[in-house]
Amino acid sequence: MYLHGTSRINEQGHLEIGGIDAVDLVKQFGSPLYVMDEAYIRNQCRLYVESFRASGLPFQVAYASKAFSTMAMCRLVQEEGLSLDVVSAGELYTALKAGFPPEKIHFHGNNKTPDEIELALDADIGSFVIDNFTEITLLDGIAQQKGKKVNVLIRVTPGIEAHTHEYIQTGQADSKFGFDLASGQAAEAVRIVLDKPALNLIGFHCHIGSQIFDVAGFAAAIQRMGQFMKEIKEQFQYEARVFNVGGGFGIRYTSEDQPLPIPAYVESITQAIKTTFDQFSLAYPEIWVEPGRSIVGEAGTTLYTVGTIKHIPGVRKYIAVDGGMTDNPRPALYQARYEAVLANKAAQAAREVVSVAGKCCESGDMLIWDIALPEVEVGDILAVFCTGAYNYSMASNYNRIGRPAVVFVKDGKADLVVERESLEDLIRLDRIPARMLYSVAP
Ligand code: LLP
Repeated sequence: MYLHGTSRINEQGHLEIGGIDAVDLVKQFGSPLYVMDEAYIRNQCRLYVESFRASGLPFQVAYASKAFSTMAMCRLVQEEGLSLDVVSAGELYTALKAGFPPEKIHFHGNNKTPDEIELALDADIGSFVIDNFTEITLLDGIAQQKGKKVNVLIRVTPGIEAHTHEYIQTGQADSKFGFDLASGQAAEAVRIVLDKPALNLIGFHCHIGSQIFDVAGFAAAIQRMGQFMKEIKEQFQYEARVFNVGGGFGIRYTSEDQPLPIPAYVESITQAIKTTFDQFSLAYPEIWVEPGRSIVGEAGTTLYTVGTIKHIPGVRKYIAVDGGMTDNPRPALYQARYEAVLANKAAQAAREVVSVAGKCCESGDMLIWDIALPEVEVGDILAVFCTGAYNYSMASNYNRIGRPAVVFVKDGKADLVVERESLEDLIRLDRIPARMLYSVAP
């Protein structure tokens, strides 16, 4: 059994996270419950910052809040001195309401609406990452109306795509994100942006994928972007001050995943940038990264209660938990795989192979196929590991199931950071048209 972060098995033979017995957490907060190991998250933040500091180059680490965005998380990120990446008014509003310094917020997205742009401009955020030609005109127009000059990066699609252990050079323009490098659209974007009175181009951005282990993909993208920046310098006498290499660093969901330690990953990125920028005689840029999953993913554990058990002799034993694709859509969406234990029997040896089903009305609502566990009984607490990224943030209310509560645990203390959605919450925005209010069945 692989235990992440501060997780351990305590004297009662129970799973413990952040110094608290997982069984007690369910007693106190109910289930399903997202448990976030605060010390682990802080440690990941510090590893990024310390590793970049060791490189001697200027840098900014921006947490990609899409992975897990709540007001408490924004506070934590602020305390750790990181910047923040947002992609919607909702993520931006969450950060602003949490008191996050606006100048350290970067706004991403391929379809920022005029309202979102206004909200961000009014808040004086640090920068926009411009994604397409429409946005150049829109952002410049709104900024001019407001009499503001905004820092922008141009998002470039470098023709490198990375997935887990491989990367491919796509050379194709077919992505909804960014300006394609190969066809010359990226250079055209530079020309236009440099001409816009309300836009201050500070640099370039690229992002090559997510859950990546192979640093060669980053090196290839950096090489291609370096070449591009050299051409831009020759053509427009413009030299980028900032180079944002995106996020995407992988984490360990199962034993098949073997991520590099963060310092090794940072080292290979900074080395590749030094080599490439030397090669093209460019001044070293300020390096920005925007990790999401690697900061919060392994910090999260979801606790469920086993409600029903269905054994089909010779076929399969299903154990059904009180959550599922509503709190973790990743198995259904991406065939993502997870490891789990029975939190109240964590010290017991595996006795049977079962499959973990969710409670939604959909056959595809399976969390884990074929996992070896101690004998499972109704009422057991199932702990699914590595659910800190893209679980809460992608949760839905399918079947009108409320989203679970989120707690931060640290040094034997648990703090509720998001309340469980109640039945009242689920109908809070519903309205019955007046003409139906007093109607009765014929
Ligand atoms: N920057 C940009 C521009 C991105 O598009 C992303 C992720 C990140 C940073 C953060 O990447 P990370 O470090 O978290 O890999 N829902 C999917 C993941 C989608 C990632 C989208 N972009 C999942 O659950 O696997």
